[in-house]
Amino acid sequence: MARNRLKNPNDLGLLREDILNKKALDGHSVKVCCGTGCRASGAEKVVSSLMSEAARAGLDLEVRPTGCQGLCEKGPIVIAEADQTFYNKVDAFDAPKIVDLTLKRGEKIDRLLVQDPITGQRANTEEEISFYAKQERVVLKNCGHINPESIEEYIVAGGYQALAKALSQMTPDEVLSEVKAARLRGRGGAGFDAGVKWEGAKRVKSQIKYIICNGDEGDPGAFMDRSLLEGDPHAVIEGMIIGAYAVGDCHNGYIYARGEYPLAVKNLNIAIGQARELGLLGKDILGSGLDFDIEVKKGAGAFICGESTALMFSIEGKRGMPRPTPPRSVEKGLYGKPTVLNNVETLANIGPIILKGADWFKSIGTEGSPGTKIFALTGRVKNTGLIEVPMGITIREIIYDIGGGIIDDKEFKAAQMGGPSGGCIPKEHLDLHIDFDSLGRVGAMMGSGGLVIMDESDCMIEIARYFLSFTQVESCGKCPPCRIGTFEMLEILTSIVEGKGREGDIERLEEIGVRIQQTALCGLGKSAPNPVLSTIRYFRDEYEAHISKDFCPAGACASLGHYRVIEEECLMCNLCVEACAFDAIIEKRGSLYIDEVYCEKCGACIGVCPTSCIVREFVERPALSGSGKGGGAK
Ligand SMILES: Cc1cc2nc3c(=O)[nH]c(=O)nc-3n(C[C@H](O)[C@H](O)[C@H](O)COP(=O)(O)O)c2cc1C
Ligand code: SF4
Ligand code: SF4
Ligand code: SF4
Ligand code: FES
Repeated sequence: MARNRLKNPNDLGLLREDILNKKALDGHSVKVCCGTGCRASGAEKVVSSLMSEAARAGLDLEVRPTGCQGLCEKGPIVIAEADQTFYNKVDAFDAPKIVDLTLKRGEKIDRLLVQDPITGQRANTEEEISFYAKQERVVLKNCGHINPESIEEYIVAGGYQALAKALSQMTPDEVLSEVKAARLRGRGGAGFDAGVKWEGAKRVKSQIKYIICNGDEGDPGAFMDRSLLEGDPHAVIEGMIIGAYAVGDCHNGYIYARGEYPLAVKNLNIAIGQARELGLLGKDILGSGLDFDIEVKKGAGAFICGESTALMFSIEGKRGMPRPTPPRSVEKGLYGKPTVLNNVETLANIGPIILKGADWFKSIGTEGSPGTKIFALTGRVKNTGLIEVPMGITIREIIYDIGGGIIDDKEFKAAQMGGPSGGCIPKEHLDLHIDFDSLGRVGAMMGSGGLVIMDESDCMIEIARYFLSFTQVESCGKCPPCRIGTFEMLEILTSIVEGKGREGDIERLEEIGVRIQQTALCGLGKSAPNPVLSTIRYFRDEYEAHISKDFCPAGACASLGHYRVIEEECLMCNLCVEACAFDAIIEKRGSLYIDEVYCEKCGACIGVCPTSCIVREFVERPALSGSGKGGGAK
């Protein structure tokens, strides 16, 4: 559909009214989540089945694909708009029943309704699902509700009103003051004040300035920025245009999006094209005299390219490696020009702040960290997915009220926050009110919003090892403390989980970790030891048990188990003996024994045993004294 350019803010209002008037008042509509999570479980087939079934039944049906609804693990999600019936785990084969029963006759299909893990009841609508009750959707308000490929739906939802207000009713200085007054802290990890950053770039005299949106999101388990870019790309674009206006002399913006996010890149390019067509990007935006345009740059999947200076080198076509600061990017950034770089979620907060004001924004969250935060909630909770909560909420509320509690009602052990830069929060801090400052005090970090919940069956050393192995591989190698130090730490951790740890290993990990933090050039190295140091801080006894008692309290480290044949159930079929490459299974007086000296704990025998009579047992040994164990890391 060709669109006419909007020449002034009034045109935007008229267009909105026009779209609203044309909206069909009769007929049915359903929203189908087509975010990456739901697509992976067949959402596109659900869309086509619903459309063909509606045609078969002679039903006038509008099927609206949306971005992420949040409950990804229960996808595909389908919502009937007339009465907001919320279905989960919908299959393409459910389409005939949805059309015939729900849409035509208004009946619910019980098995497709979400069974709430807290109440045990089937919920009819989003309002009745406890997962949503304590959330506050500011940034995600459109995500899951509008079709991200339709600028018209964004405009109907109030989109570009903040831009119109900024351009027509506020000077650039007033926009900046509002953002500063809101005390919006960057959601990309460090929590730096966005208004102060913008002001820094504004102060520098230059004919050319840039604004960049950081959509690299390389942290394992994180999908906040991806979901937002996929589900509401215009919200980020609008924030960038307002930023360009506030900073001044800024005519070009870049969205650096992860190459592994094809849907986000596609939706962004569609949104940019539509905004250009309407004159919301390009020359003389809404008749204000502002010239500004945006280009999407695809990252190639290197975690370090999310670091601000490395990201700018990457856009310039150079190798993405951090450089020392100062000079700060707001003085000398992309192509040596003043550059503002903000995270996706930070920029999506700008529209609501301009529209509703700094005081409204500060009424949410805590004094030091106003607003909300999006988390990717994963791990051992019953409801995993994408959540947006006010700052200051407790970890207990997130786990039990939103997450629905721990799977199998096991005991909560720790929450890992902030991905590889973050740390673990143990159960004594379950009631911690989370914001940027409180997390720092307990040795964790907000990071970008990864939140992994762990229970009693998770080994904290293995968790620390996992995150450190990620940063070790992703280190760009420029500076020795990071390149060599993380390698050393990883070797020690690996030896501990393999049962080869030695006395003094914990102290060595602490010493190297602190040295790396003090001397590494960039945030990757400075934060890489965090998962290790925080697990030593709160779970030192687990490290000690591994090292001196050959014991994994969580029962998770395969190398520390001892293998035994249950004599009474053994068929003497000898399959295990054949499978054991180490000749560790020996026959003695008509029974089989596993010789611990030779057993490499590979588990091959368990895999072949037809009666499951080989078991792995965890036996706490008396503590060994001295460093008499062989095979230590050093
Ligand atoms: C190794 C590394 C990776 C990073 N990755 C990202 C990322 O993917 N997205 C992001 O917004 N910030 C990332 N950051 C933080 C950015 O350097 C920067 O602080 C942030 O984008 C600034 O935006 P904000 O002030 O709006 O948070 C990363 C930092 C480091 C050290
Ligand atoms: S700290 Fe690590 S990632 Fe950062 S510049 Fe040094 S080597 Fe590269
Ligand atoms: S765990 Fe591996 S090494 Fe040990 S007895 Fe079984 S097959 Fe042999
Ligand atoms: S495979 Fe199992 S049943 Fe067969 S000999 Fe080994 S322990 Fe016994
Ligand atoms: S992708 Fe559908 S709910 Fe998240």
